[in-house]
Order: sequence, then structure tokens, then C-alpha cells
Amino acid sequence: MLHNRSEAARADAEFHLHPYSNPRQVESQGPMVIVRGEGVRVFDEHGKGYIEGMAGLWCASLGFSEDRLVEAAHRQMQTLPWYHSFAGRVPDVVAQLAAELMDWAPVPMSKVLFANSGSESNDAAWKIVHYINNVRGRPEKKKFIARDRAYHGTTAVASALSGIGAGKAVFDLPIGGVIRVSCPHYYQYAAPGESEAAYCDRLVAEVEEAIEREGAETIAAFIAEPVTGGGGVVIPPPGYYPRIQEILRRNDILFIADEVISGFGRLGEPFGTQVFGLKPDIITVAKMLSAAYAPISALYLSEAIVETLKEGADRVGTFGHGYTYSGHPVSAAVALETLRIYREDKIIDRARQAGSRLQAGLRRFADHPLVGDVRGIGLIGAIELAEDPVTRTPFAPERAVYAHVLARAQAHGLILRGIPGDIIAFSPPLIISDAEVDEMLAIVGVALDETLDLVRGKRSA
Ligand SMILES: Cc1ncc(COP(=O)(O)O)c(C=O)c1O
Repeated sequence: MLHNRSEAARADAEFHLHPYSNPRQVESQGPMVIVRGEGVRVFDEHGKGYIEGMAGLWCASLGFSEDRLVEAAHRQMQTLPWYHSFAGRVPDVVAQLAAELMDWAPVPMSKVLFANSGSESNDAAWKIVHYINNVRGRPEKKKFIARDRAYHGTTAVASALSGIGAGKAVFDLPIGGVIRVSCPHYYQYAAPGESEAAYCDRLVAEVEEAIEREGAETIAAFIAEPVTGGGGVVIPPPGYYPRIQEILRRNDILFIADEVISGFGRLGEPFGTQVFGLKPDIITVAKMLSAAYAPISALYLSEAIVETLKEGADRVGTFGHGYTYSGHPVSAAVALETLRIYREDKIIDRARQAGSRLQAGLRRFADHPLVGDVRGIGLIGAIELAEDPVTRTPFAPERAVYAHVLARAQAHGLILRGIPGDIIAFSPPLIISDAEVDEMLAIVGVALDETLDLVRGKRSA
């Protein structure tokens, strides 16, 4: 196999340590080299095309060939390729983006702070929460409540807040001060016979008990993805958020909505905040903010938080946080153009329509012998496999049944993502057409049937 590899694949296997990958596996199997994109498809070095059923990493909302974004980047590179926002200066395009983002804010917010990735924005949220409680004279109010199976990124703090992450312990994570509560996944964690309402009661009680146990005076914030993404596409039971928010409000605990995946239309509304009626104090966004054409992320900060930051800066003379590339003008120009496209081309309405088609199509697999659960909202969804769907018994992890589904889908021209727990995730570009949704679903049907043959011993891997 090695001698069949292209030069790029050989060099990559030898020299490139891939993020979130098994290094030995990349070396022995070689990377899948992607060379170009068009619409919702990407093409490998052999010319084979694939529908990107995950929009890459939940982010390529406008697909892979949006000329307006290319032109926006090019124009910005020619006029002002880079400048910073430190010490009271700012590139004009960054100022424009800040104003545009305020127009999109799903709840009243005061300012935005830019960063370059989802992880960095969550990291900054953690720092800001610590800062404001120091300024407010309550240095003991610092702990974060975070959920099991949450994914908030991989900076040191974001990893610590995450409830998943391969081998966190070998990085000496988590760092302290994180109170872990359950992932609100009814299908997997409800007790036998427990109704969704009773399950929700149990989740709410758990948060309340955690606050009681630790003391509200030690807890600063609760962080959550409106819909858990990388942890398995989990939508909490009805009533969960209003009740959690009420508890947080009563205990003066901030709510940080990690909208890194859900921001800008993934759930069929601009933000998860609107879908679930959230009232966050901080919202972090990234990914679809620039349709992933350039790295940029942002934090929306409430008025109360910004006022405290000003007070703190009065004391120490400056707000001592920021990166060389906070608000990179090229990324800002791309983000601004992305937001214009979302408005002008009514992309979020399109996502909602394509989302209904995807959800209806996925639910048709609910009776498939391999399928235990089907769920989703807007253009995000998941199929959870089960050896016995009736008793919800999962397949033994070492059988990696979902890996077969992924491999079969890929062989037929569809890239999806597997999540441990035999979960297959879907999160296509928001521009996906009805015909492409149907094509994707047809491939999923074939991949499930071929995997069933394999599981029943009628086929070899
Ligand atoms: C909900 C959520 N938060 C944060 C992140 C981290 O973002 P990044 O990879 O840009 O650092 C991700 C990445 O997938 C995410 O899904």
C-alpha cells in the first residue's frame, strides 16, 4: 500500500502530526488527501468526489466554492492584509464586523471580543468570568458547571471544560474547578420506564444538588452547547433549559452558551439561544461565522460583564487580554461577507427547509434493524446504532460497527462523522439542495444495509 501513495500522502504520513488522529494509524494507512471543493462536495487526490455530510467540522456552511468569500479575502489582502486592535487602534473592517454582529445578537449584548477559534473564545470566556468575580470582590466564586460529553475545544481551559477528549489525563487535564453534571441524553441515560419529564426532573435536581453541595458562592458559571455536538448530537428534554436557567438566576451563576456549532443557522434559527429561549450572559461563536473560509471567533458579552471589565481596567489600567490576530482583518472581511450572504440569500431559511427534509429522511431509518435512535434539529442530526434497538443495548465498542457505516458511506461518496457510542453525525453545509439531501440519505440507506449484512455475517469488511 505504501508504494501506491502519492508524494503528498507519503510526506504527510511522515512529517505531519495530525490533530485528533492516531499517529500510527495515519502513518500506516496514509492520509486521505483532499485537493479541492465545489458546492457541498470535496474531491480527493484521485478525483473522487464526496458530499461533505459534516460540512467538514460542522463549519463549511456555504460549501467549498463561494466566490464572494474569495473576493472579500482578496480585496482585504490588497487593502490592509493585517493590522491589530491593541491600544485603541482598529482595522475598519473589524469595526464594521463588530457592529454587524451586534445586529445579529439573539439577546441584548454590549460588546464583542474577537479571537481565532472556538477553543480560544471559550478560554477567554473562562478568563473573563474569573476576572469579573475578582473585580466584584468575590474571589471564591470561580467554579464552572460543565456537562458530561460537552465539547468546548482543546486549549487547556477548553479541554478542562469538555466532558470528552481522548486521553485528557495524559495532558494533566482537567484543571480544577469544574463541576461535572450529566449529559441530557434521554435515549441513553433514562432509567428503564422513566418518562422524559421524570428524566428532566432528575437532571434539574442534579444541578440543584451540585450547587447545594459546592455552595453557590463558589460557582461562577454554567457552560453548555445548546445542542451537544461532538458528544453525540444531544438535544435536552423539553423544559430543561428554562428550569436550569431559573436555578442559575436564583444562584447568581452566569450562563455561557457555546454556540460555536449552532451559531448562524445550524439549528434552523440564527442561534440556539433563540431555539431554546436562552438568556446567556456570554455567547461564544466561531465556525460558520466565516463559513470556515478564514479563522475567526467571537464572544458576545453582556452589559453587566462589560461594565465590570471597565471597572477592572480602571484599577489595573488595561484589559490585559488579546492575541496578535484578535480580529484579523482578512478573517473579518470574510466573516462580514459571510453574514451578508446569509441575509441576502436567506441561507437560514434555506437551512430550515433543508433541515426539515433531512430530519424526515433520517427518521425513516428509525425502523432499520441496526438503528436504536434517530434525532436532530435543523441541519444537525444523528443516528445511534444498537445491537438490540428494543432494549437499547449498544454494540460492543470493539466491534466499531459505526466505523463500517462510515467506511461504506465514504466508499459511496459521502463523508460523515462517527462518535463513540455508535453514533453517526450529520451536519451538512447550509446550502445543501433538496436533491443533495436525498442523495446523502440514499447513500446512508445503502451503507446501513451493507453494514447489516456484515453484522449478520453475509459480507466481509
Ligand atoms: C461546541 C464547540 N465548542 C468549541 C469548539 C472548538 O472550536 P475550535 O476547534 O475552533 O477551537 C468546537 C469544535 O468543534 C465545538 O464543537
